Amino acid sequence: MWAKTQYYFFLVFIFIASFLLFKCKSIASVNIFSIKEIPFPADNELTKDKIELGRKLFFDKRLSINETVSCATCHIPQFAFSDQKNVSEGVLGRKTERNSPSILNSAFLKTVLYDAFLPTLEMQVIVPIQEHVEMDMSMLELIKRLKAIEEYQLAARKIFNHDFDPWVLTRSIASFERSLISNNSRFDQFYYQKNKNALTKSEKAGWKLFSEKLYCTKCHPAPCFTTFLPDKNGIFKEEDKDKGRFRVTEDSLDIGSFKIPSLRNVELTFPYMHNGSLNTIEEVIVHYSKGGKDKNYSNQIIRPFKLNSSDINNLKLFLYSLTDTSYMKDFH
Ligand code: HEC
Ligand code: HEC
Repeated sequence: MWAKTQYYFFLVFIFIASFLLFKCKSIASVNIFSIKEIPFPADNELTKDKIELGRKLFFDKRLSINETVSCATCHIPQFAFSDQKNVSEGVLGRKTERNSPSILNSAFLKTVLYDAFLPTLEMQVIVPIQEHVEMDMSMLELIKRLKAIEEYQLAARKIFNHDFDPWVLTRSIASFERSLISNNSRFDQFYYQKNKNALTKSEKAGWKLFSEKLYCTKCHPAPCFTTFLPDKNGIFKEEDKDKGRFRVTEDSLDIGSFKIPSLRNVELTFPYMHNGSLNTIEEVIVHYSKGGKDKNYSNQIIRPFKLNSSDINNLKLFLYSLTDTSYMKDFH
C-alpha cells in the first residue's frame, strides 16, 4: 500500500520536474520575435509564395516611372534596408525630405512612417510609388504595366486567384517586408539567450549607461528599442519646413514630433534622425548630452548629462552590439 503511494508521489514528482524543466527551457530559448510569431493583418495571411512575389516586386525598378528606381534603391539590404544617405534620391535625382529608415522588423511597427500615422504596411506601399520625388508612378499605369508581365500575372492568379491588381501588389510587398527579421544580435544572445560572454565588458558597461544611468530606455526600450510612439527629442527647429506629425494631425502639440525609430542595426543606418542631420553616434550622444538642441521641441525626460570619453565609447559599442546581419543570408 505504502509502496503504491510512494509510486504515485514519484510519478507526480516526475511530472512536476519535467514540467519545470520544460518551462525553464522554453524561457531560456524564448525568442523575442520568432518567425512563428510575426503578426499579420486578418486580410493578409503571411505565406511563402506571397513573400517571394513581394521580394521580386521590391527589387523591381519597373515600379517607377522611368524604370530606374525600386524600393531597394532607398532600402538597401546590406545597410539594414536603409541607404546611408542624409536624404534619399528618387527618380531623376529628386531628393526626399526625409532619411530612409531601416525596414527590418517592420512587421512589429504599430504605425508606419515618421508621422506615426499610417496603420499598416499595406497602406504604406502606395505612398512611395505615387510620390513625385520617389517613384512618381500613377497606380493605374503601374497595374497595367505589371499585369502585362507574365510572371506577375501568373503569380497573382496562383496566389490570390485573380488578376494582378493593387491588392496583389500591396499584400505581397507588405508580406515580404514582414519576413525581414533581425533579432539575433550579440545583445540578443547576451540578454535573451543568456550567454554571458556574448558582450564585452565595454558593451555591458554601455548597456548599463543606456538602460540605467541615462534615460534612453524611456523611449527606446528592448526588445525593439522603440515604443513606436511619436515623441520630441529636440532635433526639430522652429524654422524647419518638415513639422513632423503635425503634418497629418494639424495639432500644434504634434509640431516637431516624430516616430521614435528602433535602434537595432544603428551601426549600419547612419546618418541619423528624420532629416539625416546627425552623421555619427558620437554626434547623437552630444545632441542628447546637451539636453536636446531645441528645448522647446524636446521631451522633459531629455536632460543634459556629462560623460567621459570612455563612457561615450562604451555607449557607442553597446549600440553597435545591436547589429545583426544574419538576415543577409537571403540576399547574396
Ligand atoms: C526614393 C527613396 C525611397 C523609395 C524609392 C522607397 N522608399 Fe520607403 N522610405 C523612404 C523614406 C525617405 C522614408 C521615410 C519617410 C517618412 O517617414 O515620412 C521611407 C519609409 C518607408 C517605410 C516606413 C518605415 C517605418 O519605420 O515607419 C516603409 C515600410 C517603406 N519606406 C517601404 C518602402 C517600399 C515598400 C517601397 C517601394 C514600394 C519604398 N519604401 C520605396 C525612401 C524611399
Ligand atoms: C523622449 C524620447 C526619447 C529619449 C528619452 C531618447 N530618444 Fe533617441 N530618439 C527619439 C526620437 C523621437 C527620435 C527620432 C527623432 C527624429 O527623427 O527627428 C530618436 C532618434 C534616436 C537615434 C537615431 C536613430 C535613427 O535611426 O535615426 C538614436 C541613435 C537615438 N535616438 C539614441 C538615443 C539615446 C542614446 C538616448 C539616451 C541618451 C535616447 N535616444 C533617448 C526619442 C527619444
